[in-house]
Amino acid sequence: MEIRALRRSDDRSAFQSGDEALDRFLHRYAGQNQFRHYLGVTYVAVDAGRILGFATVAPRHLAIEDLPERTRRKLPRYPVPVLGLARLAVDRSAQSMGLGTQLLRFVLELAAKMADDVGCAGVVVDAKPGAVGFYAKFGFAPFEPIEGQSDARPRPTAMWLPIQAIKAASGRTR
Ligand SMILES: CC(C)(COP(=O)(O)OP(=O)(O)OC[C@H]1O[C@@H](n2cnc3c(N)ncnc32)[C@H](O)[C@@H]1OP(=O)(O)O)[C@@H](O)C(=O)NCCC(=O)NCCS
Repeated sequence: MEIRALRRSDDRSAFQSGDEALDRFLHRYAGQNQFRHYLGVTYVAVDAGRILGFATVAPRHLAIEDLPERTRRKLPRYPVPVLGLARLAVDRSAQSMGLGTQLLRFVLELAAKMADDVGCAGVVVDAKPGAVGFYAKFGFAPFEPIEGQSDARPRPTAMWLPIQAIKAASGRTR
């Protein structure tokens, strides 16, 4: 199993997570967003040439007022850079085998690297109602963003994991 950035040559057509919108995104839009518009990067988990999972990330910023009180108190008053986890899905054939965890850990490592390279205060995800428990396992906490709320229905839950927690968990504190 390898996790790496999507390539133009990857066959995405067979991927099926059970969530139609996520599947459509990978089949139709992930490539053009990444290769033509540079809007974000999709990382794929590939086994024997087959995509079994993907995570799409893009930099975002959060208004300081959006963040939980405990985090907000320590930060300056201007928007903070964060890494957005825009999409995460695992193929039905590989669900409940730890692949979602591997992809999420990969994204948290990206955030730690982004923090060291250009700055990143944490990771934000708009969790689908059925996936809130998954993110909570990794320490993500719900918050109420003022700006940039997703207009997806049913309404997702915005969740946040600060970089200090990510670095502490990966032993990369410095
Ligand atoms: C949600 C999803 C990404 C999880 O990936 P996965 O590979 O199946 O999950 P893992 O095997 O890594 O599970 C890790 C842990 O999270 C738990 N978990 C998995 N999916 C969960 C969910 N939807 N809600 C709560 N807990 C969940 C597992 O039980 C496991 O717990 P354990 O460590 O105590 O055994 C995957 O099931 C999926 O693609 N679902 C459909 C699309 C979707 O909802 N994506 C999220 C969009 S925000």
